[in-house]
Amino acid sequence: MIILLVIGLAVVAFVASKFWTVFIGAGWSPTPLPTVRRMLSLAEVKPEDIVYDLGCGDGRIIIIATREYGARSIGIEADPFRYLYTWVRIIISGLSKKTGLIWGNFFRKDLSEATIVTLFLSQAANNNLRKKLSQELKPGTRIVSYYWTFNGWRPKKVDRKFGVYLYEIGSETDT
Ligand SMILES: C[S@@+](CC[C@H](N)C(=O)[O-])C[C@H]1O[C@@H](n2cnc3c(N)ncnc32)[C@H](O)[C@@H]1O
Repeated sequence: MIILLVIGLAVVAFVASKFWTVFIGAGWSPTPLPTVRRMLSLAEVKPEDIVYDLGCGDGRIIIIATREYGARSIGIEADPFRYLYTWVRIIISGLSKKTGLIWGNFFRKDLSEATIVTLFLSQAANNNLRKKLSQELKPGTRIVSYYWTFNGWRPKKVDRKFGVYLYEIGSETDT
């Protein structure tokens, strides 16, 4: 009986964590790997960059940014199950010295050290992030969004084939 109760609670927690992220940003859907690489190449990631992925899912963007580009990278993820899964992936891939993970809501985290921010969220989440990104990020910080744009911001580069939009803090609001 107790085992059934524990399993039931675990299932409820698992399902609740999936729905909760939809309300605070977006549900989980992975960026295809060729698109991840296009996002990072469009942003011209260098070893001296610090890449933040807002809602990092299974950690694919931060893992590739560190493994293939040598950048330091940080993922922020609100779903505790996906956070744990990604934490294990980072340990197994041997990248934990240069790849960090933060559990929580990216709207409440300090993003100021980022030199590149990556996102695959929703139109509403992108728009709600505009003020925070403009206020916290340094001029010249690149923001790469897959699929969704930022209303009122003009992208510096667009790859329509992949659906990737690159913005830069300092020039993003000249519409
Ligand atoms: C569409 S997925 C993208 C995952 C990954 N960035 C990728 O491109 O493959 C969005 C992710 O953001 C997470 N998320 C949504 N809102 C969030 C928030 N406010 N804070 C932290 N994570 C959030 C979700 O749990 C989900 O894993």
